[in-house]
Amino acid sequence: MRVGVLTGGGDCPGLNAVIRAVVRKGVTTHGFEFVGYRDGWKGPLEGQTMELGIAQCRGILPRGGTILGSSRTNPFKLDNGVEQIRANLAKDGVDALVAIGGEDTLGVATKLADLGVKVVGVPKTIDNDLSGTDFTFGFDTAVNVATEAIDRLHTTAESHHRVLVVEVMGRHAGWIALHSGIAGGASMVLIPEQPFDIEDVCNRVQTRFESQYAPIIVVSEGAVPRTGGEMTLVSGEKDAFGHVRLGGIGDRLASEIENRTGKEARAVVLGHIQRGGTPTAFDRWLATRFGLQAIDAVAEGDFGTMMALKGTRIERLPLIEGTGELKLVSEAEYAEAQVFFG
Ligand code: F6P
Repeated sequence: MRVGVLTGGGDCPGLNAVIRAVVRKGVTTHGFEFVGYRDGWKGPLEGQTMELGIAQCRGILPRGGTILGSSRTNPFKLDNGVEQIRANLAKDGVDALVAIGGEDTLGVATKLADLGVKVVGVPKTIDNDLSGTDFTFGFDTAVNVATEAIDRLHTTAESHHRVLVVEVMGRHAGWIALHSGIAGGASMVLIPEQPFDIEDVCNRVQTRFESQYAPIIVVSEGAVPRTGGEMTLVSGEKDAFGHVRLGGIGDRLASEIENRTGKEARAVVLGHIQRGGTPTAFDRWLATRFGLQAIDAVAEGDFGTMMALKGTRIERLPLIEGTGELKLVSEAEYAEAQVFFG
């Protein structure tokens, strides 16, 4: 069997670990051949391939990014996109696909599977907002990067008696903010699921200063104030999946806090630093196990499925269960962080 592999959407640490596991087990256990498709769905759409075998996967386990490249191309937004994909898979002699991606990439995989394309999905996103799986790989790395940043910001904030606002990724879900905020001892964590009250934020800033410590406020890029609750955008232009570019809530919040409390406030935007670089051991472990299970699903003809972590077990679910709805932070989970606010 010839198997195509692609990685789509925003990159994330651990993608290469999945590719390596898929190829290694595919070749040695199942005797498969592989075709690497470049840049997400753009690869099969435009017939852009690269050689993919054990040799190409040597040394990539700890490397961030993806050797296959990525894009946010959506074949369902293009005339004859699906037909073009089918034609290129046939031309390349590809019998089945392993698609590694988040909500958007796996959403395309779900629709293609419904149309009879033989595809299995592997969930990735630093945002950890895919339902069906306890964790996606990439998330742990992002949380560790953010936590290290918060640790560093504590000491400089205290030296200067300043407020430091740390903006982290998280478009609709506040998982990175929540986990890094708890791990880093933030004075407040503001997430998209719970619109914040700026008065309350300022009151907690004041109480934090009264205790002789400087406040660190962790805010997800998609967080919104209770009044005037619009997301803060870098650009309103939409990508092929309809996403606008978020960013700027950190600066907005810092200047509002400074104006209202008279305390000096600065914002730090962690941005793509959270997505780049080497994956943590947990992400390598999870990505590797997802890859091993995905190629077994191909070998068993279990198409239209997605790999999922349930406790410590890797299970297979129908693709729709991972892409149907986003996994958001619940009120109860947020309440755990709130104990430490102020
Ligand atoms: O979905 C992952 C993610 O990192 C989001 O948290 C973020 O909003 C988005 O990608 C930014 O992606 P890019 O800047 O690559 O378009």
